[in-house]
Amino acid sequence: MKTIINLFHPDFKQSRVNKKLVDQVKDEFEVRNLAELYPDFMIDVKKEQQILERADRVVLQFPMQWYSSPALLKQWEDQVLTYGWAYGSKGTALHGKELLVAVTVGADNYGHDDFVGYTVDELLRPLQATSHLIGMRYLKPFAVMGASSISDKNLQKAAEEYEQYLQKDVAALGTFE
Ligand SMILES: Cc1cc2nc3c(=O)[nH]c(=O)nc-3n(C[C@H](O)[C@H](O)[C@H](O)COP(=O)(O)O)c2cc1C
Repeated sequence: MKTIINLFHPDFKQSRVNKKLVDQVKDEFEVRNLAELYPDFMIDVKKEQQILERADRVVLQFPMQWYSSPALLKQWEDQVLTYGWAYGSKGTALHGKELLVAVTVGADNYGHDDFVGYTVDELLRPLQATSHLIGMRYLKPFAVMGASSISDKNLQKAAEEYEQYLQKDVAALGTFE
């Protein structure tokens, strides 16, 4: 199975957590640093589409920012997921492929009974709905919580868990899960 990891980090040089995750898996899986490829947000749409076409599993890895994704991921969606290719009656290029969100979350006070009031999975709904529209199988997201203050030991553990998560079959979620 061909897995592509598309990394969206606006400041990867300053990254600790995403860098550790990438270092853990980069020998095994293809990692593409989109912010480095497209520092001016001018995305090569054809190239990005070709890369998705040859993947079975597409991982979107990013740090949570303002309860959402970095702007370049939104730009990538807007530009790459075109009508007639990704959606619409003839837009079947991604049908049946897997979409896995891997997110690092600075805080750990998420959930209905905690400060944020929403779960991380709920905040990722726009990506889940997009996955549904483009016919991809949306896998249970991988999240590293408390990323802003995670200890070296727990970060090492999270990186190993990420590697294992990428190696295995992961259940697809239903629309409302
Ligand atoms: C502009 C910005 C917005 C952020 N917004 C959030 C947020 O909404 N929720 C949260 O838990 N963490 C937030 N964070 C913290 C990041 O998620 C955290 O620093 C990151 O996941 C750590 O990964 P890194 O070491 O790879 O940068 C934000 C950070 C930045 C720079």
